[in-house]
Parts: sequence; C-alpha cells; structure tokens
Amino acid sequence: MEFKDILAKRRSVRRFDDRRVPREVIERLLQETFTAPSSRNSRSTRIMVVENRDTIARMAGMRDYGSAFLKNAPLAFVVMGDGNASPMWRTNCAISATVLQLACVDEGLASCWVHVDGRPCLQAEPEGRKALDVLRELLPIPEEYGVLCVIAAGYSDFQPAPLPPHDDSTSVTWVE
Ligand SMILES: Cc1cc2nc3c(=O)[nH]c(=O)nc-3n(C[C@H](O)[C@H](O)[C@H](O)COP(=O)(O)O)c2cc1C
Repeated sequence: MEFKDILAKRRSVRRFDDRRVPREVIERLLQETFTAPSSRNSRSTRIMVVENRDTIARMAGMRDYGSAFLKNAPLAFVVMGDGNASPMWRTNCAISATVLQLACVDEGLASCWVHVDGRPCLQAEPEGRKALDVLRELLPIPEEYGVLCVIAAGYSDFQPAPLPPHDDSTSVTWVE
C-alpha cells in the first residue's frame, strides 16, 4: 500500500470481527515494528504478543474507562520498554507503537492504542492501583520493563470514516 494511503486509512478501531490474525501476519508486523528508530539506537522496546482470548478479556479490565473494548480484540500487543537499555524507553515505545499501528493498516488490520503507563485502574482514584499492576498479575512482564501501552488489533467489523481534514492553522508555525 502507498504510504499516503496507509496514513489516510489509519483510524482507531475498537470493534473487531471473530477472525484470528494469522501467525505469519503477526511476524511481519513485528519485523516492521522493530524498524522503528530509537534513542542512541538503544532498541529498548520489547513486545509481548497475546492471542489468548481469556487473557485479553482480563486485560480489558485493567481500567474502568477506555480499555473495555479490548475484550473484543483477537490480538493484543503489549508494548514494553527495558529501562536498563534506555532512559528514553517511553519515547522509544511510542515510536514503535505508532509504526506497529501503521503496519497494521498495511496488512488490512485495524488497531487501537490502550494507554497503560501511569494510568490508574479507577478514573475516580488517580492515586490508586495502576493498570500496570493488573497487567503484571496477568502476564510474565519482567520487573525491569515498563509498559507504555497495549495495541489491540484485529479485522475491523465496519468501515471506519476517513480522517477529517487537519486544520494546520492551529498546529503549524511557519518561519520564513
Ligand atoms: C497516547 C495515546 C493514548 C491513547 N489511549 C487510548 C485509550 O486508552 N483508550 C482508547 O480507546 N483510545 C486511546 N487512544 C486512541 C485515541 O483516542 C485516538 O487516536 C484519537 O481519538 C484519534 O482518533 P483516530 O486514531 O481514529 O485518528 C490513544 C491514542 C494515543 C496516541
């Protein structure tokens, strides 16, 4: 797919049909994700691939806002960073996650980011238990790794609306 088309087609999709994502597609996505640049070439990003529907459904309960849709996804990528490899692990993870979402579009897959880092389980208790604590109970995440986000992925069960045109006037400054 043309890069322009990939950018135009990417939308956050939170509804998926029942099709599993073939293993060879997942492996291509991972290869593409790891082309992402990283601070000082530290390559601190680590990815955990979760295909077990029960585990994904439990992960969906990590927050009481903005993560419930995850239970419908056939596939979840946990985007982790090794803090020993780079103090910039969060930034590296964000770049990796973005490349992963664009690679999903190229494979005909839809995806959505579920934020983890710093997010409380309960919106009403910002200082309470964290979404990361829930994931650590469910998944074998090494102690020294942080988790920036989970990327839910699968085949969309609807045609998302195209991105609205962007209003440059508020976000771009030209210096001539
Ligand atoms: C850093 C970041 C955090 C996000 N966290 C969540 C989230 O926790 N839950 C969710 O449903 N969507 C989440 N999203 C998706 C955004 O809501 C979505 O990208 C935004 O509404 C724009 O829609 P679009 O992706 O279709 O262009 C997140 C996106 C980013 C980049």
